[in-house]
Amino acid sequence: MRLTLRASAKINLDLRIGGRRPDGYHDLQTVFQTLDLHDTVVVQSSRGAFTLDGDPALMPLDQTNLIWHAAEALWRASGKSGDPRGARVRVTKRIPSRAGLGGGSSDAAAALVGLSHVWRLHTTLQALLPVAATLGSDVPFFLMGGTALGLGRGERLYPLVNRPRRHVVVVLPDFGVSTPDAYRWLAKDRAADPASWTPDSADWTLHPASARNDLEAAVERRHPAIAAIRRRLAEAGAELARMSGSGSAVFGLFSAELTARRAAARLAGDGHRVVLTRTRPRSLVETRRLI
Ligand code: C5P
Repeated sequence: MRLTLRASAKINLDLRIGGRRPDGYHDLQTVFQTLDLHDTVVVQSSRGAFTLDGDPALMPLDQTNLIWHAAEALWRASGKSGDPRGARVRVTKRIPSRAGLGGGSSDAAAALVGLSHVWRLHTTLQALLPVAATLGSDVPFFLMGGTALGLGRGERLYPLVNRPRRHVVVVLPDFGVSTPDAYRWLAKDRAADPASWTPDSADWTLHPASARNDLEAAVERRHPAIAAIRRRLAEAGAELARMSGSGSAVFGLFSAELTARRAAARLAGDGHRVVLTRTRPRSLVETRRLI
């Protein structure tokens, strides 16, 4: 058996970070949105030990890769002992790493879906959600896709109605940001200036004027290039220009394709790596998950 799965990238249309919890994570409220930009994950039955293939320049292929964790977690959850066997996973990577686009998490979610078929576990998406949550805060979202509200660590999900599709210009600075660093910087800035933190509920109308990313200011203080890219995208006509997740990617939303194309060309002209893509509604995510 051989399955080819789409592992979509995501952006956070809105991201509000609450207090630090006893387990070290932060309570948050976020609106996730999948993009057309995706990795391709092929899951195939095989003999012998589980293996992972891909371009080693783009992702680690050893046990530190989240796909390995996914295979081990699903193997154990299905009551099997020893190391996972009987499947190989191959990833064609397009989603940049350390960008806040969820590439590693999305690959892991796709691997869970593929492996549950190949291992004939017949696990429902609902039953995969808690396994996904053990892998990372935003892995469960990639089992759902489309637009969704994430609460708790981001793993408590509520699907939201599809919004009109937008053209998205994703700009990739020549540095990445580690997620734990971004949260540490935010905690440090809040401790130094408590008045800077106004706890607030996310705005589900997602009006561009009120959409926010609470990690953005903390990351921009350490990486001013991100603020400069946001300004360039706004000048180029973006309805909303925000950092995604913990960065370093910045996205601009556009309703007109021509404006998006011109903005992408302008940012590429500045010397940035740019991806022009679109938001991806849930119906397409569900029906085209298996490519
Ligand atoms: O869950 P995940 O492995 O993606 O989280 C990576 C890191 O990001 C955590 O170890 C933590 O430092 C930070 N984080 C957080 N609160 C969240 C999500 C992530 O503090 N809700």
